[in-house]
Amino acid sequence: MCGIVGYIGIEGKTVQVLVEGLKRLEYRGYDSSGIAILEKGHTKVIKSEGKLDNLLKKLSIHSFNGSLGIGHTRWATHGTPSERNAHPHVSGGTSVVHNGIIENYQELKNELKKKGYVFNSDTDTEVISHLIEDFSKNGSSFEDSVRGAFKLTEGSYAVAIVSEREPEKIIALRKFSPLIIALGQGENFIASDIPAVLPYSKRVIFLEDGDVAILEKDSFRITDLNGQEVKREVFSINWDPVAIEKGGYKHFMLKEIHDQPHAVLDTIRGRVSEESGDVYFEGLENIVKGVRRVVAIGCGTSYHSCLIGRYMIENIAHVSVDVDLASEIRYRDPIIDENTLVIAVSQSGETADTSEALLEMKKRGARTLSITNVPKSKIARESDAVIYTHAGPEIGVASTKAFTTQLIVFYLLSIYLGRHTGRLSDNEGRRFIHDSFRMPQLLEMALKLDEVIKGLAMEFYHYKNFLYLARGINYPIALEGALKLKEVSYIHAEGYAAGEMKHGPIALVDESMPVVIIAPRDGIVYKKVLNNLQEIRARRGKVILITSGDEADELNTQIDRLIKIPDSSYMLSPIIAVVPLQLFAYYIAVYKGTDADQPRNLAKVVTVE
Ligand code: F6R
Repeated sequence: MCGIVGYIGIEGKTVQVLVEGLKRLEYRGYDSSGIAILEKGHTKVIKSEGKLDNLLKKLSIHSFNGSLGIGHTRWATHGTPSERNAHPHVSGGTSVVHNGIIENYQELKNELKKKGYVFNSDTDTEVISHLIEDFSKNGSSFEDSVRGAFKLTEGSYAVAIVSEREPEKIIALRKFSPLIIALGQGENFIASDIPAVLPYSKRVIFLEDGDVAILEKDSFRITDLNGQEVKREVFSINWDPVAIEKGGYKHFMLKEIHDQPHAVLDTIRGRVSEESGDVYFEGLENIVKGVRRVVAIGCGTSYHSCLIGRYMIENIAHVSVDVDLASEIRYRDPIIDENTLVIAVSQSGETADTSEALLEMKKRGARTLSITNVPKSKIARESDAVIYTHAGPEIGVASTKAFTTQLIVFYLLSIYLGRHTGRLSDNEGRRFIHDSFRMPQLLEMALKLDEVIKGLAMEFYHYKNFLYLARGINYPIALEGALKLKEVSYIHAEGYAAGEMKHGPIALVDESMPVVIIAPRDGIVYKKVLNNLQEIRARRGKVILITSGDEADELNTQIDRLIKIPDSSYMLSPIIAVVPLQLFAYYIAVYKGTDADQPRNLAKVVTVE
């Protein structure tokens, strides 16, 4: 995930602040880096592929006296990891660093090319520097040029910009990508995460979506995109080292739930081309050639992602999929041949049940692929090919960001399979990839439910039993929601396919049974699930409905609580729908006083059978 640092203040200090800040953001992962410094009104840009050491070597042969600059560590989305694609991107006197994705960059690029702008990289970011330059050339001030440019862009961004025309300012903007400013004495800072600037300042402002911050060395202002001033609270950060590791969150579980937008983005980036509609995975080509059937295996949460993977692969790639618990398949006699692809899913890559099942399937002649979060883990080593989720370390015992990144891998893999078997056209590929780019933004929106869910947990934490119901691709989300709740709060919860209600579990429903129904509006099974809702209401069950779309409000009178999640495509809806359930389990654990990070009897890595 990319990192941003910006500095304005004391002459000669800029490079030190930028480099140290970027080092503190290294944990986010990156493939190239760069800085731009304004010195006596002129821009000096140094960029490098690979690790920060490469950049440092280049910097050591220059001297810098500037009092403002911006720095960036990049993790490729559009365009390969290379020096030419590294940020900052410069147009005329405007330099830009950017995290996120400009969704309409292709249209903007075409327009700018018509106006004669030459593109020196394959990034979406370069349209920003040219756009700002274009406004500036037409006489707009730096601020107005920036606002003008961002009114034309769609997508997500955290951005820092400097301009030779007004070399006493840095401008920072945020929409769906985190960005803070930190305040010092005669100096101010920008960063994508607090640790980058903590040694210099503990007075921090968290920018909100749509904010434009204009920093000078002794002052700052924040406006919206129309130039209207907005007020933001200054927070004093008093973190101990462990808290820093937790990013200021009380528990790793909460931090990791909030990590999901960038974890999902990191898992997508560098693997897709929206232009061609293709997905790239190294070393998979031979393994998928001629595959007739997929068998997906995993345990616990990873098993739930296999269940959702089945819907994705069958729908997108039209390849038949069976799913099994890794701990069960070994004790069956599954029909496996050399045209069967066994996919083993495991966050840790060390789960004994999954590893043993994988080896057994291999013995029976299957081709094997693993989806895991831990490089060089056992399961990764044992399989013929591996796709890594880029969730970063998951420390909370309850799996959250590993799950959503597994789902996005299944989605990309479905496109990959569909394209390789010729069942998916390039247009369809483009559409599916485009939908995936919206996910980080939609996850950010879903995470805004945090406070609402906290309130909901307060209301419901004393109940003894919960039912979770859903249908179609979100049925496994009902299983996952129930698993999260029992793991961290020790409350009994069951996930059920909504259509199965009438075949038994409805007997359990009365006023003491809260029922969580997951039914995103886009779902083809939406109406059917609403019928189940009526059945529960008729038996005085308490209904919490998780749904999307405007029609949802009409249902408000028929249920106890309505949680509205953002709309996504149906295939990707589980990634959004699970967020309120993760938060619900977490806050119930907090209210019950259980240890959300290390629930009793559970281990993060289960290496016993
Ligand atoms: C649930 C959870 C477990 C794991 C399971 C498999 O929150 O964390 O159910 O999903 O133990 O672990 P991995 O994915 O490491 O194989």
